[in-house]
Amino acid sequence: MKAVVYERYGPPEVLELKEVAKPVPRDDEVLIKVHAATVVMGDCEMRAFDFPAWFWLPLRLYAGLARPKRVKILGQELAGVVAAVGRDVTGFKSGDEVFAPTEAGFGAHAEYRCLRATKPIAIKPATMSFEEAAAVPTGGLNALHYLRKADIRPGEKVLINGACGTIGSFAVQLAKYFGAEVTAVDSADKLDVLREIGADRVIDYMAEEFAAGGAAYDVIFDVVCRKSFSRCLKSLRPGGRYLVVNPLANQMLRALWTSWTSDKKVFFAFAPYRTEDLNFLKGLIEAGALKSVIDRSFPLDRMADAHAYVESGDKKGNVAITVVQ
Ligand SMILES: NC(=O)c1ccc[n+]([C@@H]2O[C@H](COP(=O)([O-])OP(=O)(O)OC[C@H]3O[C@@H](n4cnc5c(N)ncnc54)[C@H](OP(=O)(O)O)[C@@H]3O)[C@@H](O)[C@H]2O)c1
Repeated sequence: MKAVVYERYGPPEVLELKEVAKPVPRDDEVLIKVHAATVVMGDCEMRAFDFPAWFWLPLRLYAGLARPKRVKILGQELAGVVAAVGRDVTGFKSGDEVFAPTEAGFGAHAEYRCLRATKPIAIKPATMSFEEAAAVPTGGLNALHYLRKADIRPGEKVLINGACGTIGSFAVQLAKYFGAEVTAVDSADKLDVLREIGADRVIDYMAEEFAAGGAAYDVIFDVVCRKSFSRCLKSLRPGGRYLVVNPLANQMLRALWTSWTSDKKVFFAFAPYRTEDLNFLKGLIEAGALKSVIDRSFPLDRMADAHAYVESGDKKGNVAITVVQ
């Protein structure tokens, strides 16, 4: 099968389309013919090995010190058709149209991918294209995980910083679904998209400082984490919750300290990916309450261009990879 492989860390040009062995499903696995995948910022970070200092060494030891060893095919989410099932698999059959995250094993940038049937895999909503469905797991599951931690009550004011990216574009819609009044912050050319997906108010972060207006929000969901921690806390009302997706080491210590010593709570953690949550998102999609924002699609053989586009910062929502044309 064809797959995009990287044998060394570096710029997008390290990505090469190659012929590799087609995987064979184990007894508890499904073999998925990948129709579409995405490139998310996490793929680019793995390729370039661009991570915060506290995370760099342990992850590098795990991933391969001199060159990538554990994962050679990137891609964290996919949508496709079940091509075969292992003998112990009961929940899926050949021909099922599915979507799924690939989790720590990556591997979606290929024509086929095996996944354990007990891992989060859901039947693709009939209303979505493969590209749209492939874009749901990373953004949707992370946004859902963080927003549930905030336990949003109807009418609360939620600010989402970095709102037009993979996670933010789902967070805006999910926060609206939970009844919040949503302020979405991103760059100027992305504000129309944010209005379209339901933001009540939008802020261009280059033109306006959201954290300058005093205690205005019940929840701040910070996807980019380039703001002063103290200013964000000051922008929260009493009992406010600060959700930090991408914290630096000192921010994690301050998060714990703040949660212990004040009435404000700071939350950070990796999202567990669960089948019931993927099905919850699927239900919202089928009910018309949630959609994927797809900016552009690239074919598998233009993976380097897709990575470069994601890294340019121009991406609105998600960048899809079309594997089956
Ligand atoms: N903790 C976890 O469980 C977890 C899970 C998944 C991902 N992550 C990490 O979270 C990070 C972001 O995720 P993502 O995939 O949603 O990123 P993304 O798709 O790149 O979106 C980030 C958005 O933030 C905007 N932005 C950049 N600087 C900003 C600023 N100063 N103020 C406001 N908006 C700003 C970007 O727009 P412009 O470029 O136009 O400025 C972009 O629209 C990644 O580093 C990823 O690895 C963490």
